[in-house]
Amino acid sequence: MEMSALEVRNLTLSVDGKLILNDFSLTIPTGEIHVLMGKNGMGKSSLAKTIAGHPDYAISQGKIIFHGEDITQLSPEERAQRGIFLAFQHPVEIPGVSIANFIRSAMNAQNKKMETVAFYKLLHENMDRLELSRNFSARPLNVGFSGGEKKRCEVLQMLMLQPSFVILDEIDSGLDIDALKLVAKNVNSLRSGTFSGLIITHYQRLLDHIIPDQVHILEDGKIIHYGKPEIVRELEEKGYALLDQEEAL
Ligand SMILES: Nc1ncnc2c1ncn2[C@@H]1O[C@H](COP(=O)(O)OP(=O)(O)O)[C@@H](O)[C@H]1O
Ligand SMILES: [Mg+2]
Repeated sequence: MEMSALEVRNLTLSVDGKLILNDFSLTIPTGEIHVLMGKNGMGKSSLAKTIAGHPDYAISQGKIIFHGEDITQLSPEERAQRGIFLAFQHPVEIPGVSIANFIRSAMNAQNKKMETVAFYKLLHENMDRLELSRNFSARPLNVGFSGGEKKRCEVLQMLMLQPSFVILDEIDSGLDIDALKLVAKNVNSLRSGTFSGLIITHYQRLLDHIIPDQVHILEDGKIIHYGKPEIVRELEEKGYALLDQEEAL
């Protein structure tokens, strides 16, 4: 039997005393890219951080299974070692740490250590791919970056770490049309039968370039719709009220 890449089972999550996920479940088969949509504030980013193991998002109930292994109790580092990568909606600024050093220590922590010369060669190749100026590598992580530069820097980390599972949280926000295509092309370059992911977005335009397998829509703590990507175009036209009509049928 083909194992799922990710199984989120009956998750309950409260943040700041507010119930965000309520007996929430979602499964992503290995090799598939799924999309998560939903209105602002529904908990999409909270779910992303919960899967990545962010300590502020402690679940009160439920399990997270990654390729058959229960990772619910694992640290973010241990989850990253297993191949999970989260590109943040709001990448954090780290004033004292250069991009190169940040990526290098992440690689070292994941047993992907490289010799200095080989590391910089690969880093520069990947920066070229993303049309990020090479002298960015010495700049402190995300400090003073434009929205688009921050997003491309998240994708740079992804290319360097070669994860098997990515969560891309609004990776398209702040990107111009050309940058969007570039980011999509680089995500697609990782796609294979063993690569899977969850893409959080509000718009069809990203999905014109990264074709997903399935779409989930989150509302009031649960998935209220699951199905083929055609729904996204329809949602764009009619808004989330579309799903109320669907329910009424
Ligand atoms: N660290 C936090 N502290 C306090 N409230 C939070 C925190 N993270 C998320 N929330 C709240 O949880 C809700 C869901 O937020 P979020 O997951 O960012 O939603 P989405 O990504 O779907 O827009 C919001 O009401 C938000 O204010
Ligand atoms: Mg969000």
